[in-house]
Amino acid sequence: MSSEVKLSVLFTAEEIAVVVERLAAEIRRDYLDKNPVLITVLKGSFVFLADLVRQLDFPLEIEFAQLSSYGHGKESAGKIKVVQDIQCDIKGRHVLVVEDIIDTGLTAAFFLKHLKEKQPASLKLCSLTDKPSRTQVKINIDYLGLTVPDKFIVGYGIDWDEKFRYLPDIRAIEDEG
Ligand code: IMP
Ligand code: MG
Repeated sequence: MSSEVKLSVLFTAEEIAVVVERLAAEIRRDYLDKNPVLITVLKGSFVFLADLVRQLDFPLEIEFAQLSSYGHGKESAGKIKVVQDIQCDIKGRHVLVVEDIIDTGLTAAFFLKHLKEKQPASLKLCSLTDKPSRTQVKINIDYLGLTVPDKFIVGYGIDWDEKFRYLPDIRAIEDEG
């Protein structure tokens, strides 16, 4: 099946590196003395987070959460659940959520609300990509990397049904047939 899928490169590894460097500089400027907790939503953000934190040379903590939003395929399963919650107490802490993609915005809206109930001192969102053509809930993205067209993207940690996460660049799946 996957051998028949046509992929076209949207952003090269070099272009992504420039964007990550810019985001790291912005985050560094705002969080240098705040010992923030960076919360990453698995699995799609793991490559982005790894590149991002290696450019942040100041005290911070990392937490992981896993949500279920999409089932198999390219459409949302509709329901969002916390499958694995963060392990530390974020009350009074400065929290930055690190996401791979904001599509409809439903997942991020749900997760930000979930975290807000834990009473952090501040709560902001960083996303490598945003797909504004698909917005259902308007989310303020405090640190945004790339705006992507209305296509399903893969690579740089982002999957289609667990495939293509290993690609070093970001590619679009071209409509079959
Ligand atoms: P949202 O709730 O519609 O914003 O969806 C967010 C989640 O859907 C992301 O974290 C991804 O897991 C998945 N997703 C949405 N669009 C894409 C895409 O183009 N490629 C891969 N995953 C996507
Ligand atoms: Mg995801």
